Amino acid sequence: MTILETERLTRAYGGVIAVNNVDFQVEGGLITGLIGPNGAGKTTLFNNMTGLDTPSSGKVRFMGKDITGYPAHKICRLGIARTFQNIRLFKDLTVAENVMIGRHFKTGKDETKGRFLNALKSYIHLKEEENAIYDKALQWLDFFDMHSYRSELARNLPYGKQRELEIARALATDPQLLFLDEPAAGMNPQETEHLIRIIRKIRELGITVVLIEHDMRLVMNICDSITVLNYGEKLAEGTPTEIKNNPLVIEAYLGRDE
Ligand SMILES: Nc1ncnc2c1ncn2[C@@H]1O[C@H](COP(=O)(O)OP(=O)(O)O)[C@@H](O)[C@H]1O
Ligand SMILES: [Mg+2]
Repeated sequence: MTILETERLTRAYGGVIAVNNVDFQVEGGLITGLIGPNGAGKTTLFNNMTGLDTPSSGKVRFMGKDITGYPAHKICRLGIARTFQNIRLFKDLTVAENVMIGRHFKTGKDETKGRFLNALKSYIHLKEEENAIYDKALQWLDFFDMHSYRSELARNLPYGKQRELEIARALATDPQLLFLDEPAAGMNPQETEHLIRIIRKIRELGITVVLIEHDMRLVMNICDSITVLNYGEKLAEGTPTEIKNNPLVIEAYLGRDE
């Protein structure tokens, strides 16, 4: 079943058409790869599906609902999470705290604003909830084999672990759908190997994954389906084997030394 789709999505910045009339589909429960040369519009497409940017025209639908132009926090609460091309951690917070922030972002306690008694009750409730959120964060750290780092400052983690911590934080929002923008960028082969295992485990949880990635070994290894962008347009889509053998894709992207 298609859980997310764009319909003729276009995003122009002045004269630059970063994304041009793209129909993109994401099947629930699978791993979808989004590939293409630098500047092809991959991050822009992500931004327009996750509320960081608004399409010039076209539509975004999630579970059949039109979410075009929704702000990022609203999209997050619908069950869509993401990471960024450049690391965005709270480097002076601990590893566990970074994951807990993901959880807070999702629950966002607006109801504490009420009258005094309610506020007090909410405060007591929050204390309890805080423990639950901490426990949940530790579970995610276990999932990433990162438990022993829980009290370290994020800035002291090895690079590959910092990248994975961002994924853990995104998962703490309990998403149905997870967008990863170049998760393996800058990783060494061991770190990439670990990441591959993690992404497969995420799929096993039933969470749908969409990833932008230049590491073709990773992409061809774990993606169920791949979409190729070139100059803002959709060039091809298919299985890894179909994409590997597509002459247009080889010409535009795979055949190049980047
Ligand atoms: N905020 C912006 N303002 C102007 N141009 C932008 C902006 N964001 C992206 N672009 C342009 O859109 C094109 C696609 O960029 P991007 O989506 O980052 O590509 P990719 O992620 O595939 O490398 C590029 O030409 C880029 O310079
Ligand atoms: Mg990009």
